[in-house]
Amino acid sequence: MKVVFLGPPGVGKGTQAARFSERHHLPHIATGDLLRKALAEKTEVGLKARSFIEAGHLVPDDVIIQLMIDRLEAPDAASGYILDGFPRTIAQAKALTRVLEEKGVQLDRVVYFSLDDAILKERIVGRRSCPSCHTIYHVIYRRPPHEGLCACGNELIQRKDDTEETVAKRLIVYREETEPLIAYYKTQGLLTQIDAGGTLDEVAESLERTFQN
Ligand code: AP5
Repeated sequence: MKVVFLGPPGVGKGTQAARFSERHHLPHIATGDLLRKALAEKTEVGLKARSFIEAGHLVPDDVIIQLMIDRLEAPDAASGYILDGFPRTIAQAKALTRVLEEKGVQLDRVVYFSLDDAILKERIVGRRSCPSCHTIYHVIYRRPPHEGLCACGNELIQRKDDTEETVAKRLIVYREETEPLIAYYKTQGLLTQIDAGGTLDEVAESLERTFQN
């Protein structure tokens, strides 16, 4: 199964992708996590991406496309995956189609998670993440087992791009660059929309239902 999780920042793609990945034994490939790892390790990609991420802009297509071409070559991606945060532009979507065509395969589904902007902002500003195991918490909606600490024992952080100011910019960028993908994948008959406004369990149940149909 090859699935894309599409939607605005903070909608809950990463949270649901982690659960879906565990349940269906699929690798969860998140461009945001790959970029933050590259940033922490100060690789060439990380150095190129830093200023874009911190300003709430998209990292240039050529950097992201190459990163994903390399990642999709890894053995664990041979028979399926969840793509979380990629593609995010029409150019990225076309590049993905080319890569899949070269392998003689295609996407099974694109799940579009939708939610009001006001709730998105609340979710992002309250997010706390584990830099080690990538578990995502929320100060109200998904509290860590101990204040400030992940279940794996590491200290939780607030992402640098999770400030109110950067979130506003990320939402503008999302509308301009990523939203056109909704029509793009709808035309191809691949799109399923999910209301991401429920609780974590409710959204997970809606997601499972779409794959039973
Ligand atoms: P990335 O890390 O992908 O960020 P994003 O898409 O902006 O998405 P988020 O991680 O903010 O949100 P999410 O939908 O995963 O929500 P989450 O599950 O965490 O990208 C970061 C940056 O990297 C980009 O801005 C860009 O610069 C660059 N980048 C990445 N990919 C790129 C690409 N393809 N091209 C170019 N640049 C790229 O949930 C959010 C919060 O809500 C959490 O606290 C969670 O606990 C809570 N929550 C989740 N679900 C619920 C629920 N149902 N009820 C209540 N709370 C909930």
